[in-house]
Amino acid sequence: MNATEIRQSFLDFFRERGHLIVPSAPVVPLDDPTLMFTNAGMNQFKPYFLGQATPTHRRVADTQKCIRVSGKHNDLEEVGRDTYHHTLFEMLGNWSFGDYYKREAIEWAWDLLTRVWGLPKDRLYATVFGGDEGRRLPADQEAERLWAEVTDIDPTHIQRFGAKDNFWMMGDVGPCGPCSEIHIDLTPDGSGASLVNAGSPQVMELWNLVFIEFNADTDGALKKLPSCHVDTGAGLERIAAVMECTGGGRDFSRQVSNYDTALFMPIIDNLAELSGRTYTPGVSNDEDSIAMRVCADHLRMVAFSIADGAIPSNESRGYVVRRVLRRAARYGRKLGLMVPFLHTLVPILTATMGDIFPELRREQSKIEQVIRGEETSFHQTLDRGIALFEDEAAGLEAGGVFPGETAFKLYDTFGFPLDLTEVMARERGLTVDEAEFHARMEEQRTRARASQVKVAQLAEDEETRLEPTLFTGYENLEEETTVVATLGKADQRAVVLKETPFYAEMGGQVGDTGILLTADGEILVADTRIREHVILHQLAPESGRVLEPGEKVVARVDRERRLQIQRHHTATHLLHHALREVLGDHVRQQGSLVAPDRLRFDFACPEAVAPEKLRTIERLINLRILENSKVGWIEVPLDLKPPEVLAFFGEKYGDRVRILNIGGRYSGQMPEPLFDGYSKELCGGTHTLRTGDIGLFRFLSEGAIASGVRRVEAVVGSAAEESVHRDLELLERASARLHTTPAELERRLEALLENQKKLERELAEARKASARSRVADLAASALQVDGVPLLAADVGDGDSDYLLQLADGLREKFQGVAVLAGVIGERVGLLALVTPAYVKAGYHAGNLIRQVAKELGGGGGGRPDLAQAGAKDASRLPQVLAAVPDMLKATVRK
Ligand code: ALA
Repeated sequence: MNATEIRQSFLDFFRERGHLIVPSAPVVPLDDPTLMFTNAGMNQFKPYFLGQATPTHRRVADTQKCIRVSGKHNDLEEVGRDTYHHTLFEMLGNWSFGDYYKREAIEWAWDLLTRVWGLPKDRLYATVFGGDEGRRLPADQEAERLWAEVTDIDPTHIQRFGAKDNFWMMGDVGPCGPCSEIHIDLTPDGSGASLVNAGSPQVMELWNLVFIEFNADTDGALKKLPSCHVDTGAGLERIAAVMECTGGGRDFSRQVSNYDTALFMPIIDNLAELSGRTYTPGVSNDEDSIAMRVCADHLRMVAFSIADGAIPSNESRGYVVRRVLRRAARYGRKLGLMVPFLHTLVPILTATMGDIFPELRREQSKIEQVIRGEETSFHQTLDRGIALFEDEAAGLEAGGVFPGETAFKLYDTFGFPLDLTEVMARERGLTVDEAEFHARMEEQRTRARASQVKVAQLAEDEETRLEPTLFTGYENLEEETTVVATLGKADQRAVVLKETPFYAEMGGQVGDTGILLTADGEILVADTRIREHVILHQLAPESGRVLEPGEKVVARVDRERRLQIQRHHTATHLLHHALREVLGDHVRQQGSLVAPDRLRFDFACPEAVAPEKLRTIERLINLRILENSKVGWIEVPLDLKPPEVLAFFGEKYGDRVRILNIGGRYSGQMPEPLFDGYSKELCGGTHTLRTGDIGLFRFLSEGAIASGVRRVEAVVGSAAEESVHRDLELLERASARLHTTPAELERRLEALLENQKKLERELAEARKASARSRVADLAASALQVDGVPLLAADVGDGDSDYLLQLADGLREKFQGVAVLAGVIGERVGLLALVTPAYVKAGYHAGNLIRQVAKELGGGGGGRPDLAQAGAKDASRLPQVLAAVPDMLKATVRK
C-alpha cells in the first residue's frame, strides 16, 4: 500500500463505523490569532471539547495538514537530520465528541493496523499513562485493561510512561488528557522493546489516542470537562514509510525512512537531478541526503502555507514561513543550487498531493510566484550579508574574535543562522563571540515579549470559563445589559457583558470603542477583542471603578466611528468585486484592514495595477455607490453556502457562516437565504444598509508588499471628504504661492518651468565663458615638479560639470598634470587631468585622485588621463592641495 491508499483506507474504515469525513481545516488558522499554525487534527474541534459549541455529528474523521515549527509542538531542528519528523505532515484522525470512548478507540486502531493494514502484531507496542504524582493524576488502568481485553496484543508489549510521554496537551492551556500511543519496532531482529519512547528512529510512534477529559487553565489546574472525548492522530508519512519500506510489515532488514515513500521521492529525485548529487535512501546522514530531505520537507510547508493564505513577511506566521523557506534555500546552496530552484518543484508537489488537497492546484501559480520572489530576494540578501561579513572580517587578524553584535545582525537582518556565521569565521581563523550573540538574541526576545503582553495577558485570563457573549451590534449601537465579569489587572482591565453591541476586532475590521454608562458615571472602552467567543471590552487605563458582576450598564458604541468603519467595510466588498471584474477572477484577497479612517486591501496579483485600471475600478465602485444597492446579510449552515460565494479561508466544518449579499432584494437582516446580489461573500463584519451610505470612494495608494501581492489603500465617507479637502487646500496654497488661481495653475507652472530651462541654459553658457577665461590664469599658475608642469588649484564654487569644463579648456592650453578642487557647501569635488605625453611617462590621474580624496576623507578613481572623486572634509583642502607635489612623486609609475 502506498500513502494514497493508506489515507483512503483510513477514511473508509472510519466511515464504515459511523464517522462523517470532513475536510482538513486550513493550515493557517487566519481566524485564530492565538494559534500560529494548525498543529493537530483536533484544533478545529476545540469548541466541541470545551462544550462551547454543539457538533452536528458526534463521530468525525479526516486527514489534517499540520505544521509544527513553533510553540509547544516544535520539530524544526530535527527536520531533515532525522527521517521521521516534518515541518508539515498529515495527521489521520478520528474523533468522538462525547460519544464512544477508550474501548472503541483502542479496538479500532488495533484492528486497522493489524487486520486491514496487516502490520505484524509482535512488532507493535502500546503505551499507557502511568500516572503523575505531582498533579495527583492516577495511572490509566482502564486503558491498560482494555488493551489486554479488546486486542490480542502481547501483554508484555503494554508499557506505562509518565506525563511527558502519555499525557497530551494542546498547549499550556486547553483540552487535554491521558493518552495511549502505538509504537512500532523497526529493528531488524525485533529487539526494540527497550527503545519505546527513547528517541530512537528504530522504534517509532505511529498513532496517538488521546482521551480528552480535562481543560488546562493558565494556572496549571486541570478542570474536568462535562463529557469525555476521543482525539486520535496517526502520522500518515510514518505509516506510509513502514508499509512501503518493509513490504507491508514483512521484511525489516531495510531501513525505514519517511522520505523513501511516494510522498517525497518524486521531489527528492528531482532535487538529485537538479543538483547532480546523489541521494542515499534509509537513515543516511551524509550532507547531500540531509539537504535534499530538508528541501523536500520545507517545500511542502511553504507551499501549503501560501495556499492557505500566509505570505512570507517579517511578522508572526509570515516570518515563520520566511525562515523555513530560507532554511531550504540555504540547504539548496549546500547542494550547489545557487539560484532560485524551490519554485520549480511546486508542480511535482501538486502532482503528488493536489488530488487530496485541491487548494494546491488552485493556488499553484501564486505559490510558484511567491516562492520565486522570496528566494530571489533571499539570495540578494545573502550576498549583502556576505559583504557585511567580509567588511567586518577584513579588519580582524587571524585568531581574532568576530563581534557577536555583527553575528546577530547577520542573523536578524540577513537570516544567517549562527552556525553559518561560525563556519565562515572559522574559514578565516576567527571565532564568533557567542556570548554577545546570545545576549543580543535575549534582548530581542524580551522586546518581542513586551510587545505581546497586552493581548496575551487577557487571552490567558479566565475567560475560557465564561459563556459566549451575545453580539447584538449588527443592528444596535446601544444596549442595556449586565456585567458578567471584570478581567485583568490594574490598567489592563476588560469587562465582559451578557450581550453587547460592541464589535470585537475580527476579519480585518477593528474593534469598536465607546462608553459603558453606569449608575454613577461613564467608563471608556478603548478597544474590543474576542477570545473563545467571549467579547472583551478593553477599558482605557485609569478607567476608575471596577465593575462588579450583575451590575446593570448601558453599552454605547461610538456611533460616528462605527459608521465610518462600516462604510469602509462595505466599500471593501465593492472593491474586491470591482478588482475581480476589472483585473480578472485570479485576484484573491490576502488580508484586509477596515478602520474608521481608511481601508487597506491586500490581494494576490502578479503585476502592478496600471493607473488607468485603478481609475476604472474607482469609477465602478462609485457607480455602485450611486446605484444605492441594498446590502443584506443572513447566517446559514456552511452546507447552504452557494458555491459561487467567495470564501477564501477560515471556513471549517460545522460552522454557521454569515453571508453578505450586495445588490439583491433585501437590505439588513434577510428573511430568507436569497443570494441574488452581484457581490456575495462570507463575512462576520458590520455593514451599511445601502451602498449609498458609503459616500465617496477614493484610492490613496497602490503598491507591492511581497512578490505577487499588491496592497491598495482607500478612503470613503467623511475620510474621503477630508482627503479631498486636503488636496484642494494644497492646490489653493500652491496657486497662492504662484499668484494665480487653481484653474490657471497648470499654465503658470508651464511658464515657470520654461523660464527655468532658459535660465539654466544661460547659466551654463555663462559658466563656460568664465571657465574659458579662467583656464589661461590656471595654466599660468603651474609649478614644475621634477620637470613636470603641475597644477593644483582650488577653483572655488563649482560642481563636477564646471570642473570638467575647466579640464576641457586646460587640455588645449596646458601640458602636464592638473588637480582641480571645487567646493559646494561642505562637499569637495575633485578632478585630475594628465595630458597624453605625461600619461605615457607613467603619470596616472586615477591613482593620484584616489590619494588626494583619501586625504580628504573621501574616495574615487578613474582612468589614467582623467578621473573624478568626491570628499566631505573641505576644511583640510589647502593643506592637501599643498601636498599634491609630494603625492605626485609618490604615485608616479616608474
Ligand atoms: N491530538 C493528538 C496529537 O496531536 C492526537 O498527538
